[in-house]
Amino acid sequence: MSNRILQAENVKKSYVADSLVTEVLKGVSLSVDEGEFVAIVGESGSGKSTLLYLLAGIDKPTEGSVTLLGRNLASVSDEDMAAMRRREISFVYQFDNLVPHLTAYENIVLPLVLDKRKEKDYRDSVSEVCDFLGISARLNNLPKQLSGGEQQRVALARALVTSPKIIFLDEPTGSLDKERGTQVMELLKKINEERKVALLMVTHSAAHSAYASRIITIEDGLIKK
Ligand SMILES: Nc1ncnc2c1ncn2[C@@H]1O[C@H](COP(=O)(O)OP(=O)(O)O)[C@@H](O)[C@H]1O
Ligand SMILES: [Mg+2]
Repeated sequence: MSNRILQAENVKKSYVADSLVTEVLKGVSLSVDEGEFVAIVGESGSGKSTLLYLLAGIDKPTEGSVTLLGRNLASVSDEDMAAMRRREISFVYQFDNLVPHLTAYENIVLPLVLDKRKEKDYRDSVSEVCDFLGISARLNNLPKQLSGGEQQRVALARALVTSPKIIFLDEPTGSLDKERGTQVMELLKKINEERKVALLMVTHSAAHSAYASRIITIEDGLIKK
């Protein structure tokens, strides 16, 4: 049995602006297996975020196919995609993206609340995730009362509490200083190794890509061989 959880075949993406067509991705094929930690690297503007959005089903390719957790995303309805995002996949952005008027705890459990789960069913596992990420003492704070590194750990907690099969991360250390960035990378490695969650992380940092078990380089809209 294959343990492949993500497969992209000849994915292309073009943008049209002022009737000028720009082909950002020119035919990318890649796959991710269960429990892998894969980094996508490339220069700024090389199409990394575009690729990640297509792979996570946030945007659609102009051509080619993406199969995520056994489903061809072209035939997944918006409703089913939203359900997948609540239960099976998570996304972490460069800039925290926390809801400013909710506490850290309320942000973390938001996907569970939206999925109409009962607090008694998730209370223990959420506190275990918060301990794991070292943020249990900060749960009553609003995002603005947290440091950048803490905010990013809250975002990681929110990504983890749904027990996803894969987490997509777009420059998760991009807004952090070197030390905080390293801390987040160490946590990602721990998440991957101890919780067996597959990670697909975009970064332009060579140092951070070294935490992954496999590196894919994007150049001129193609995977560099
Ligand atoms: N919505 C969009 N409309 C038009 N062009 C876009 C859009 N999103 C990205 N691009 C262009 O696609 C290229 C790749 O962008 P992006 O995927 O964000 O690169 P990276 O994440 O590697 O920095 C850039 O030249 C960018 O200007
Ligand atoms: Mg980007």
